[in-house]
Amino acid sequence: MPPAPSVLVQVAHPDLGRSRVNAALADAVRGLRHVTVRDLYGTYPDHRIDASRERELLHTHSTLVLQFPFYWYSTPPLLKQWLDQVLPYGPALTGKTLRLAVSTGSAAHAYTCGGRTGFTMAELLRPLEATAHLTGMKLAEPLLVHGARDITDEELERTAEQYQELLSTPRRTLTQSCRPADVRRP
Ligand SMILES: Cc1cc2nc3c(=O)[nH]c(=O)nc-3n(C[C@H](O)[C@H](O)[C@H](O)COP(=O)(O)O)c2cc1C
Repeated sequence: MPPAPSVLVQVAHPDLGRSRVNAALADAVRGLRHVTVRDLYGTYPDHRIDASRERELLHTHSTLVLQFPFYWYSTPPLLKQWLDQVLPYGPALTGKTLRLAVSTGSAAHAYTCGGRTGFTMAELLRPLEATAHLTGMKLAEPLLVHGARDITDEELERTAEQYQELLSTPRRTLTQSCRPADVRRP
């Protein structure tokens, strides 16, 4: 008897048909036996989320992966709506794992201490980290794909393989952000 699916990947890309990075990542893990991949925008084109169905899915998986392109240093709007309407208060998610898989248009150095954006990814992803904390979920090491427009086919293929491995191995802890004193802001 095959093991029950245990990783739920919620892909939140407003136009997955035109996506390069997120489409490749979703394709890379869709075939894995223990992984369920959902296309949030494709499932809910009218943005009417079936919260009970989504909670059922959360209940039957031990890891939740939120995969999305970074939009104005945040999630695309339907994923924010999904968080607002679906995440339960109380102990339902305690002990589960949350992993983020985020693509950015800017290159990695833009998100280093003193880089162009002025903030690290760990800092910018802090609200989702706090959400994991409040709901009792353990935060796994994120997959960050920077410079999405310039990434070569070979790099993207390697990243997709890394994604497959991450979803097949136990979690590691989140990268630490800069200390406040290290961050230069205008
Ligand atoms: C509305 C919008 C906002 C964006 N905001 C950011 C941003 O804040 N930081 C960034 O690095 N890239 C930003 N980008 C670039 C996207 O993150 C990038 O195009 C995406 O990760 C590429 O993934 P894809 O090939 O799956 O579409 C933005 C793109 C759009 C359309």
